[in-house]
Amino acid sequence: MKTSSTIATPELPKTDPRVKLIAAKIKKENHKADALIEILHTAQNAYGYLPVNVLKYITKELHLPPSRVFSTVSFYHFFSLKSKGEHTCLVCTGTACYVKGAQLILNEIEKQFALKPGHVTADNKFGVQVARCIGACGLAPAVVLDDEVLAKVKTEEIADKINAKIVTS
Ligand code: FES
Repeated sequence: MKTSSTIATPELPKTDPRVKLIAAKIKKENHKADALIEILHTAQNAYGYLPVNVLKYITKELHLPPSRVFSTVSFYHFFSLKSKGEHTCLVCTGTACYVKGAQLILNEIEKQFALKPGHVTADNKFGVQVARCIGACGLAPAVVLDDEVLAKVKTEEIADKINAKIVTS
């Protein structure tokens, strides 16, 4: 039986391209509960994991009980509820970003921090992830540092931006 969500509606930043991407996917699927797994894939591809506030948003938009969404996420090992690292650098490697140098950015991060995608520093302070498309192709190559979307990132500036984020936290 479908029930309305009883959890609070999360406030997701409407300007975040990842939120727009998920909203567009939900709309395309006509808010159908059957599309839950596909929508979860879209969200995980955009964020690198499934933030709880995003899951609450999906729950509300699909008119599902929260238990259904959270049990689905727990059941499939490819979904993750946790970001890797206290700070996360998510590099978009979708086509537009790839063409504009996403791999060079990843290479630079590996060179500067000895980190490959999916890994975190030994102190768990910083992790690197990749996304297939975060819905901001016009900003390619795009990188998301924690929740801040960086546009047209230059390879030579990525290390400074990451260091600024980690040091100022
Ligand atoms: S390919 Fe990177 S935002 Fe779409």
